[in-house]
Amino acid sequence: MVRVGVNGYGTIGKRVADAILKQDDMELVGVVKTRPDYSALQAVRRGIRIYAPDAESARKLEAGGVPVAGTIHDLLGQVDVIIDATPGGVGAKYKPLYEEAGVKAIFQGGEEADVAEASFSSLCNYEQAVGKRSLRVVSCNTTGLLRLICTLNKAIGVKSVRATLVRRAADPRETKRGPVNSINISPVKLPSHHGEDVKTVLPGLDIVTAAVVVPTTLMHVHLVNLRLARPASLDEVLEALQSTRRIMLVDSGRTGIKSTAELIEAARDAGRPRNDIPELAVFKDSITINGDELILFQAVHQESIVIPENIDAVRAIMNMASREESIRKTDESLGLGTPLW
Ligand SMILES: NC(=O)c1ccc[n+]([C@@H]2O[C@H](COP(=O)([O-])OP(=O)(O)OC[C@H]3O[C@@H](n4cnc5c(N)ncnc54)[C@H](OP(=O)(O)O)[C@@H]3O)[C@@H](O)[C@H]2O)c1
Repeated sequence: MVRVGVNGYGTIGKRVADAILKQDDMELVGVVKTRPDYSALQAVRRGIRIYAPDAESARKLEAGGVPVAGTIHDLLGQVDVIIDATPGGVGAKYKPLYEEAGVKAIFQGGEEADVAEASFSSLCNYEQAVGKRSLRVVSCNTTGLLRLICTLNKAIGVKSVRATLVRRAADPRETKRGPVNSINISPVKLPSHHGEDVKTVLPGLDIVTAAVVVPTTLMHVHLVNLRLARPASLDEVLEALQSTRRIMLVDSGRTGIKSTAELIEAARDAGRPRNDIPELAVFKDSITINGDELILFQAVHQESIVIPENIDAVRAIMNMASREESIRKTDESLGLGTPLW
């Protein structure tokens, strides 16, 4: 049983913690929370132990009715691996603390790539991550792009990728972020960093990305234009995409789903926890092939897509299972591939 701690209990941290609780080879020792709010109170009610980043936060948590099991130092003394889910850039500040404690660390995509020994994507480079001291699970958009690229790479081969990302402005619970009435070209100077982030996992890939941010909180949407290594048929592409539970094909003709709003509603109706869609959602009817050129739309549920990769990252970094075994255990325990309609 590998003992895991989670530092940061926001959008990603709370989902990672829940996912660890579902693994039969991992124990959630506790989570680090800074403030006493509804999330902290719910965690307490569910028996999750709360640790504080420092004495001042511990005092505030206790004053707010959240029992504190200790500080982050106490947590680090009891775990084999820490999953850092603090806001982007904060993880790097904790890195020396994790190293001092002799604890392996998994960071998130909001950190610079050099925070860890390797950037991680289960379908692309699981084997290279085995036994490392630190890993960085790439961002939600990068995880979505890499799942598609590595799945097609394995079956057919991918020569180049051009992608336009339509990004959500904020997560549903975030009240302070925008835009509210705008389409922000972000960044104006091309390419966007997302393609560069893909290259932290696939260094040789010819990929260029552009991104805009729109006033929605539900999901990101990508228009992906891929040059395959050779001409392929639609059946070959569909077979490749259906070979992994990490990708979901959305049949718009049959389901009527043509938007992120309807996708999230389908997840709600299906009783998915938190409406989560950790699978990459590829719109089947958008798949267009001209010889070796492939075009498609895909949607990324930013709040949950990186959760399976975080669980695989624990098994890789702790050398607990082969890639296939880890992916199977993660997918089964988290219910990936369970029908939404
Ligand atoms: N949200 C996404 O769409 C998404 C997708 C993929 C990857 N990521 C990446 O995942 C990471 C976490 O993002 P997130 O969206 O989960 O952030 P978030 O919702 O803002 O949560 C961050 C958590 O960290 C806590 N925190 C803040 N400062 C801290 C500190 N100094 N020490 C310990 N904990 C601290 C916050 O505590 P309080 O709750 O007490 O304030 C909060 O629980 C980032 O690197 C981000 O880029 C995010």
